[in-house]
Amino acid sequence: MKLTIIGTGYVGLVTGACFAEVGHQVICVDSDTAKVKLLQDGGIPIYEPGLDELVAKNVAASRLSFTSSTAEAVARSDVIFIGVPTPPLPDGSVDLSFIEKVAREIAAAMTSYKIVVDKSTVPVRTGNKVAETIKRYCKAQVDFDVVSNPEFLREGFAVEDLMKPDRIVIGVRSQRPVPAMKEIFAPFDAPVIVTDISSAELIKHASNSFLALKISYINAISAICEATGANVQEVANGMGMDKRIGRRFLDASLGFGGSCFPKDLSAFIKISEQVGYDFGLLKEVQRINAQQMDRFVKKIIETLWVLKDKKIGVLGLAFKQNTDDVRMSPAIELCQRLQKEGALLRVHDPQAMEKARPLLQGVTYVADMNEVAEGCDALVIATEWEAFKKLDLERVRKVMTHPILLDGRNLFDVAEMERLGFIYKSIGR
Ligand SMILES: NC(=O)c1ccc[n+]([C@@H]2O[C@H](COP(=O)([O-])OP(=O)(O)OC[C@H]3O[C@@H](n4cnc5c(N)ncnc54)[C@H](O)[C@@H]3O)[C@@H](O)[C@H]2O)c1
Repeated sequence: MKLTIIGTGYVGLVTGACFAEVGHQVICVDSDTAKVKLLQDGGIPIYEPGLDELVAKNVAASRLSFTSSTAEAVARSDVIFIGVPTPPLPDGSVDLSFIEKVAREIAAAMTSYKIVVDKSTVPVRTGNKVAETIKRYCKAQVDFDVVSNPEFLREGFAVEDLMKPDRIVIGVRSQRPVPAMKEIFAPFDAPVIVTDISSAELIKHASNSFLALKISYINAISAICEATGANVQEVANGMGMDKRIGRRFLDASLGFGGSCFPKDLSAFIKISEQVGYDFGLLKEVQRINAQQMDRFVKKIIETLWVLKDKKIGVLGLAFKQNTDDVRMSPAIELCQRLQKEGALLRVHDPQAMEKARPLLQGVTYVADMNEVAEGCDALVIATEWEAFKKLDLERVRKVMTHPILLDGRNLFDVAEMERLGFIYKSIGR
């Protein structure tokens, strides 16, 4: 099918590449002309495992192309996906101006029936607003359908998630766009559920909020473990073997971040408030998450006493492993809090250092993870990169002024670290 994706970011670019991979004809649009030029020249603006090969292969096969012209892409496509940002406003609600602008741009370019699919994460009832806007601004007065198709990919595993999704959610107002939507997703061999638009929009916010809740739940348990001498990993393993609970999202840490969970939680709390429901449970999820960071910073201060002029190495800047995304990263927040206390930081991330630079200044960026600890009073693990598990711990211990390792991601074995001569503090163990 002939598809357009508007917004060529973490969601749009991977979606476009995967649609092309299964044989669709895809045009990716972005208003950032520098990004479009980079893509047209064979570059990739984000780090996502497997994405560069997928893009190169499908560009070479003439199934994937890039433009900054929405009008040109709309004219050449039957189905238009919207994947633009929906960032938070200061009061926690969602800034829908990107969506509204794109709806107007699509409307202005439409001269025949189109299916307009919202893939961005939006508050319930946004689909109706998009439909109203398109109707109002479409001079050609042609038929169209608005569909909600929320995206559930995980950054760092986005290609895998898009090629093998758990489910495809299609929210519609009429049955007319359903066959086309099913045809687009047929090659992915995943269960498709067709709902009304509001339910589809709610599925996304309800899912992300539930996952955040699961993380905060185990983080709360980690506090109890620390107070009682229990081990949160043992507790999580025992809980996770219950199929009704499941082991995933039960890893205690310094808290969640990223461009989705924090904003989707506050958006969902706000939407609930607007429809007359006080979602206190989700406010508690936010509170526990903030507290978890506070508890970790406190642990560092209690261990090192005064942080002023102490040299601290920090491993990890991305908000999670396998990505270069530093938006709302707990690792960056942690660095900023340590800087506020006067600590001098040496930092490393396998992929996120470039994107971190504008947010985190006055630190030393270190290219080799094994050199971060040099001359440090403590080393902190802030992101759960697999690569950090292969740290040369003997070397790290020798080059530090004192072998203190504070692990915000529980990457190492407690007994083993003690055997190696570290003062090792982690989460809930
Ligand atoms: N990143 C994720 O893991 C993830 C997962 C699921 C859902 N989502 C949702 O998907 C949406 C997009 O997220 P993202 O992380 O891909 O954002 P992003 O910032 O990486 O990408 C958005 C892109 O849209 C472009 N853009 C903005 N206005 C435009 C316009 N008028 N025309 C064309 N392009 C325009 C931007 O230049 C940018 O390249 C958000 O609603 C987000 O909540 C994100």
